[in-house]
Amino acid sequence: MSTTALHYQSYLQLDKVLHAQQPQSALHGQEAHDEMLFIVIHQVYELWFKQILHEIDLLLGTLTQEDTVDERAMGKMVETTQRIIKIQEVLIQQVGVLDTMTSLDFLEFRNYLFPASGFQSFQFRMLEVKLGLPRLQREQYNNIPYAAVFPPEQQAQLEAAEAAPSLLAAVAQWLERTPFVQFQGWDFVPQYKAAVARMFEEDRAQLANNPHLTDADRRARQTRLQDAERYIFSLLDPQAYAQMQASGQARISHSALMAALLINLYRDQPILHLPYALLNDLLQIDEHVGTWRYRHSMMVLKMLGRKMGTGGSSGHEYLQKTVAQHSIFSDLYLLKTLLIPRSHLPQLPEGLKKSLGFSFGT
Ligand code: HEM
Repeated sequence: MSTTALHYQSYLQLDKVLHAQQPQSALHGQEAHDEMLFIVIHQVYELWFKQILHEIDLLLGTLTQEDTVDERAMGKMVETTQRIIKIQEVLIQQVGVLDTMTSLDFLEFRNYLFPASGFQSFQFRMLEVKLGLPRLQREQYNNIPYAAVFPPEQQAQLEAAEAAPSLLAAVAQWLERTPFVQFQGWDFVPQYKAAVARMFEEDRAQLANNPHLTDADRRARQTRLQDAERYIFSLLDPQAYAQMQASGQARISHSALMAALLINLYRDQPILHLPYALLNDLLQIDEHVGTWRYRHSMMVLKMLGRKMGTGGSSGHEYLQKTVAQHSIFSDLYLLKTLLIPRSHLPQLPEGLKKSLGFSFGT
């Protein structure tokens, strides 16, 4: 081993990291014990945000570098989404550490923080943008654009990220290229519509013949069944779906949605295992962002009640709104509405089954 071997301290630049905590309360001569925790936990979050961004860049690189995604890259992508999920679990868990600080202890140093706020976390905004949160979907406060709190060069970086494909957009493009939705004359969508129609026919017959229902109950259920049928057929119909897209209820294209549907329905086929795992992981990532938002908003409520945030928003009320409104992969939840039992699925042609399986020899 070299005598000038790299040292742990210098490799990790611990002289910088461990001297980067400057409690404002100490600077004002009123040191508040808990401010150290407040600083350290924010720094730890920012480090994890950095790592997640690093992983998202890897996913984006794989998805956008070529017209086709090499099957061999799928395994690596799923390992990456799994890593993001594990980090998010830590992020959610960590809220509990800060929860050990009482609101009175927080009030000992909160006044020194104005107007600094989590609103100014550039990496958090970058994460939202790279995952695929568009400006129009954002909950605004005081009509201030979200990027206005950053210096011009960071605003430019956010704009560039907004103009580049997000993970949602890149995944949608990958889905659009899925080859199995039409296969040697077999067309998945009309086949699926027929299978869905058959399922509803059976449901209607069951309702009509159910001896345990009162007339009022039967009518109410028939109306609900009709509504569900209408909704499902509008998702399956490109024109009706286009209207949902226009009104902001759906974001990915119809062909991407149909490919995601096929992957979800036939995920038992070997070639679809990893695509299914990827789609499932994206849902989990979205759910974890929502869970973190919820945990953070509840911590804010416990800490501040209905007080305004240091960044000037309504605090808890604003944060609560973002939980549902800032969901990014909501189209993938939409397709769960479309799933029907395995027993009703259209049979795949033999040639397609063979292509979806792993076969050895000839
Ligand atoms: C005592 C603990 C905390 C309190 C009371 C608190 C309070 C708030 C409030 C009130 C907001 C809304 C913006 C504003 O008006 O300032 C906010 C936003 C935010 N906070 Fe915290 N926060 C705390 C801890 C944390 C931690 C540990 C993180 C980790 C990075 C964090 C990250 C964020 C982010 C990213 C936002 C922007 C959220 C969005 O706009 O969707 N906060 N926080």
